[in-house]
Amino acid sequence: MLESVKFDQTTAYRKLKSHHKTISKQSIAELFDADPKRASKFSLRFQDIFVDFSKNRINGRTLSYLIDLANECRLSEAINKMFTGEAINATENRAVLHTALRNRSNEPVYVNGKDVMPDVNRVLGQMRTFSESVRSGEWKGYTDKKITDIVNIGIGGSDLGPVMVTEALKPYGKKGLKVHFVSNVDGTHISETLKGLNPATTLFMIASKTFTTQETMANAHTARAWFLEAAKDENFVKKHFVAISTNAKGVAEFGIDTKNMFEFWDWVGGRYSLWSAIGLSIACYIGFSNYEQLLTGAHDIDQHFRHSTFRKNIPVILGLLGIWYNNFYGAESHAILPYDQYMHRFAAYFQQGDMESNGKSVNRSGEKINYHTGPVIWGEPGTNGQHAFYQLIHQGTKLIPCDFMAPVISHNPIGEHHKLLLSNFFAQTEALMNGKSEAEARAELEKAGKSKEEIDFLVPFKVFEGNRPTNSFLFKKLTPRVLGSLIAIYEHKIFVQGVIWNIFSFDQWGVELGKQLANKIYPELQDAEPVSSHDGSTNQLINLYKKWRK
Ligand code: F6P
Repeated sequence: MLESVKFDQTTAYRKLKSHHKTISKQSIAELFDADPKRASKFSLRFQDIFVDFSKNRINGRTLSYLIDLANECRLSEAINKMFTGEAINATENRAVLHTALRNRSNEPVYVNGKDVMPDVNRVLGQMRTFSESVRSGEWKGYTDKKITDIVNIGIGGSDLGPVMVTEALKPYGKKGLKVHFVSNVDGTHISETLKGLNPATTLFMIASKTFTTQETMANAHTARAWFLEAAKDENFVKKHFVAISTNAKGVAEFGIDTKNMFEFWDWVGGRYSLWSAIGLSIACYIGFSNYEQLLTGAHDIDQHFRHSTFRKNIPVILGLLGIWYNNFYGAESHAILPYDQYMHRFAAYFQQGDMESNGKSVNRSGEKINYHTGPVIWGEPGTNGQHAFYQLIHQGTKLIPCDFMAPVISHNPIGEHHKLLLSNFFAQTEALMNGKSEAEARAELEKAGKSKEEIDFLVPFKVFEGNRPTNSFLFKKLTPRVLGSLIAIYEHKIFVQGVIWNIFSFDQWGVELGKQLANKIYPELQDAEPVSSHDGSTNQLINLYKKWRK
């Protein structure tokens, strides 16, 4: 169990409050003027990833107070407890060990006195054999044809990780093997996915930790019916359906041969599960050795996170910077902006990772807290975002700290595209920091030949205040290993913040209420009888639905 330390009653918190009053008078640009070594001082390199966090509203003192805060909130102890399998997910009484899934050192990791590594390695071995047989064509469908399409059916953590990673690592994907993902219970999702697929060459992976999730079960049954319409024989189900779950009973009841079940454990949180058998679609698509590279990249960061001092620790620094803006500047959201089209689901992935983890308002002692916790996470790939929402980041009234990330080497080095992309990447963080002064705006308009009246009118709209904080991640190339490291950096950043905010980051009770009510309403939709058991608005909506669907 992690100790409860009241974040807003620490000495470091008080110091940061008063420090904020002074440093907020200085702009980031002024901080650069005051220190010629600032860029290198506030940058960290890890293998092929370079993180420049110098364009933030911080100086050395800010960082040292933030590190004091981490120490007062006992971050080192918390890190150690997570890695050594303590039940830090206290409300579910579970260990949190996604780090064991990618533990390439193979050193034992104990949960309740039992080393989990033999089980982890056994399932990895099963994934290797299976993925190789699908890729080689050795695994045959019911008409003896090889598999050409994989459909992963899952939702939340049983979907978002595989979607994001298979998109990000498309250049490593096997030709002739397509992966599809069905998550939404909206029948459109599965219908549109199945259109054009051949039941004889399609393999379904039913990915659900609990094997009870309504959306996944509904989609899985629809897929099974679609398959049987063509195959006609239930005995063929085992050739076309595999399961990834912790629930062997539920899997067997569905009719999947438990030999084709890939196990994982209750100490793997849904949103941290792409490193488990939930990554099976990834392994099939990019090949098992590339999947291992992904694990290795994450393991490398695990080591870095566990053993580096806080000042040199990338997830710790990023977590602390987030707290600085969230709790001292009142920032409400955080944008993740990858300048890499392959990473187009990266921000969406961390919407779940971050918001399901740290969207909490009760501390570890069960008390309501009166400070802000997890920010709203959002973002789109550059340069699309520039032509959509960057206006608000540059000139709006809200402070939005942003993470920019880009590869130095593109997988598609055609013409001038990558230089154009990267010039935008560099330009944005510079513009966000420096802005444009009134004098600059005036000079530009004069140069463009505008009259004095026009200039006086236009100048206020052309001024950019600047001083918008950003982190820049520059990495050599988007390889499986680099991606693994980037994901693990964000996972640990979320952990750092949860520890300091004194919340439990590994449960998700907030998702339950909607599920419970949907289960109550579902039977009410079976007939035409008007309902009156809800509030006025809900009754009205349900009754209109019943009337109009006739
Ligand atoms: O959204 C809530 C949640 O419990 C997630 O944490 C999880 O990733 C998702 O539902 C899917 O759950 P399961 O894998 O059990 O189907």
